[in-house]
Amino acid sequence: MEYSEKVMDHFQHPRNVGEIENADGIGQVGNAKCGDIMRMYIKVEDGVITDAKFKTFGCGAAIATSSMATELIKGKPIEEALKLTNSAVVEALEGLPPVKIHCSVLAEQAIKAAVDNYYARLRGEASGDDMTVNSDCEHVN
Ligand code: FES
Repeated sequence: MEYSEKVMDHFQHPRNVGEIENADGIGQVGNAKCGDIMRMYIKVEDGVITDAKFKTFGCGAAIATSSMATELIKGKPIEEALKLTNSAVVEALEGLPPVKIHCSVLAEQAIKAAVDNYYARLRGEASGDDMTVNSDCEHVN
């Protein structure tokens, strides 16, 4: 399996790994089949994502895509971050082998889950301990 240099770089030196204390939104997605789990933390100020960090218990492609995804949403308004698709992340990484494309879906869903959690908190429907757990990621290998 061939990985691009960018994928290897983000896999070996992932950006934004960790947790954000007092995060404004936390999203977690899991995949029942491979057991991979991703948790995304975001900090939001005036509608802009000022910081994003992630923790992944998952494969190399999931680590590389989360690393790239956090880099792409930092400094962006929430609406723009929500438009980030897994294919845009894969493109920024200069491609992923076809059997690994589904791993990038985890990063996209984790961002959406973190934003959902942020909005739910704003509406007073969730607390800092709640996370949106989403497991509809199609896993095909
Ligand atoms: Fe499960 Fe990559 S996310 S194998």
